[in-house]
Amino acid sequence: MNEVRKKPTLPGLFKKAAEGKPITWLTCYDYPTAYLQEQAGVDMILVGDSLGMTMLGYDSTLPVTMDDMIRHAAAVRRGAPNTWVIGDMPYMSYQPSIESAIRNAGRFMAEAGCDAIKLEGGAAVCDRIRGIVDAGIPAVGHLGLTPQSVSALGGFKLQGKSASAAKKIVEDATALEEAGATMILLELVPDRVCQLITERAKNSLIMSLGSGPHAHGQLLIYHDAFALYPKFKPRMAKVFADAGAVIRQGLEAYVREVSDKTFPAAENYFGMSDEEFDELTRSLEA
Ligand code: KIV
Repeated sequence: MNEVRKKPTLPGLFKKAAEGKPITWLTCYDYPTAYLQEQAGVDMILVGDSLGMTMLGYDSTLPVTMDDMIRHAAAVRRGAPNTWVIGDMPYMSYQPSIESAIRNAGRFMAEAGCDAIKLEGGAAVCDRIRGIVDAGIPAVGHLGLTPQSVSALGGFKLQGKSASAAKKIVEDATALEEAGATMILLELVPDRVCQLITERAKNSLIMSLGSGPHAHGQLLIYHDAFALYPKFKPRMAKVFADAGAVIRQGLEAYVREVSDKTFPAAENYFGMSDEEFDELTRSLEA
């Protein structure tokens, strides 16, 4: 039975952070998982372009299209009507121009019912952030390990390790905040850098993915947290439940029971009265 909760609001999320209560955030890409996440009390959902890897089996997020994103974001919204849903702008949906950024951010709002969008990058994307915010759409920035630039970053690894690299991330965070970013996600940066940015932030909520506890909230990739992605498990992710193992055991039981004919049992199918069946066979003979 669906327990209806009040949908979080942006002021409500800021209030929660101001009270020192961490905001909970998970990725999600489909209706049944969104339903479960809302039931569990998750504050925010990111419909991440990581769905290219976790749901569609690509090797990177780069092939994901806006149409892919809208289909998944709309399904998530149907499953979690009372959760703050953020749509992730896929590769080349905002890089070409400010106009493309505003148009595609608008699609997340109009076609999928999202509450905000997220895009990757620092000072270089501030004009996109400004345009989107001016169009009345809350925008979330993303710094540190930004998967759409993984080739330029030299792989999936810790960012901002040196003082000079960390300074660039701090400056980018300031630029995003000044451009109007409602939140900034820091992915895979040292905990002290995350803490520094969180302490300096005035108008943006700082969220951590693998960047330590000193942020206003935490994000995890759902498939990492529940062992559902077969290719690798990043060190930063904790497995909260091994759903992958549970599902695999269930699948093996299904194969076994169909093979040994213990499934379906009487309670899994329906009969027909003798009278109707006799009439059926008579009519086929006629
Ligand atoms: O697509 C995604 O899920 C993301 C996370 C890696 C932050 O952008």
